[in-house]
Amino acid sequence: MSEPGPAIRQTKRLSADAAGIAEAAALLRAGGLVALPTETVYGLAADATSGSAVAGIYAAKERPSFNPLIAHLPDLAGARRQGLFDANALTLAQAFWPGPLTLVVPASPGCTVSELARAGLSSVALRVPVHPVAQAVLAAAGRPIAAPSANRSGRISPTSARHVLADLEGRIDAVLDAGPAAVGVESTIVACLDGAPRLLRPGGVPREAIEHVLGRPLVIASETGHGPIAPGMLASHYAPAARMRLDADAPHDGEAWLGFGPEARAHPAALNLSPAGDLGEAAANLFGHMRRLDEAGHAVIAVARIPEQGLGEAINDRLRRAAAPRQTGI
Ligand code: TXA
Ligand code: MG
Repeated sequence: MSEPGPAIRQTKRLSADAAGIAEAAALLRAGGLVALPTETVYGLAADATSGSAVAGIYAAKERPSFNPLIAHLPDLAGARRQGLFDANALTLAQAFWPGPLTLVVPASPGCTVSELARAGLSSVALRVPVHPVAQAVLAAAGRPIAAPSANRSGRISPTSARHVLADLEGRIDAVLDAGPAAVGVESTIVACLDGAPRLLRPGGVPREAIEHVLGRPLVIASETGHGPIAPGMLASHYAPAARMRLDADAPHDGEAWLGFGPEARAHPAALNLSPAGDLGEAAANLFGHMRRLDEAGHAVIAVARIPEQGLGEAINDRLRRAAAPRQTGI
């Protein structure tokens, strides 16, 4: 049923009830591709232990290179069968799982996550999502599930089943629809490989919260200039067709406007990430609002300044990627 390759498939819409969850898990066990809701974004899920199932993810996304993928598990006990947790990793898992945190740890000797999902690395990225539907599917699937965001490579990450279908209709076996994703940006990725935990990607758990639990600052991977920077964190990743102009005070003539916080002025092509200035609400709205302005065909989307604190760090990271000059082949 799931030959890797750009096979044409009928994409089923499954509802997030017991029957839909059971069918999603059965498709995954049979090597299929299912878009699953998580609290961060929708993931394109496949059996992480099967190289051919994982190859189907890359084919459906048209990912030109085999970036390592996150393996999703229902709980810490399951994750500890796949990876070796040092004291820091254990502290973070206990504090933030289930939830929007991914830990990159050395793969355990018994790790069943396929070489392809790990891109041949000796480490493995593990995440225990909190979304109840994701939890139910993981429990029923009974194996690690690889799931990058369910968009075509280089496009905006999906926070609803509609977004998933816009990119992947006809390329995947099913989408399990559980409504909009609550967090709206991907998980924070922290590597615990050699002592000092390193922030590989800002995301749904604010850096400050992690540093508070660890009792020390995180090493920022991109600032060290070497080591296992998350290979998927390439500059132009969240690419709308429109050009993005960031940190704007106001839209210029003809620009669409993506605002943040209370605004007096009326604008014909404006959306507001959070009129109340709430960063959590802004994160949840980010990808959907970018998509809506982009789909309306505006040439330029001007974006208000977002504070660089809490979830603002992840929001600004994604906005900078959306604004970056396009790199081909990513
Ligand atoms: O919120 C999320 O994390 C979503 C949902 C679906 O769970 N998933 C997601 O997966 O964002 P993906 O594949 O788009 O991002 C995986 C990131 C990439 O930047 C990849 O390079 C990094 O994790 N990564 C995976 N394994 C790694 C490893 N062993 N070492 C360093 N980075 C790794
Ligand atoms: Mg992605």
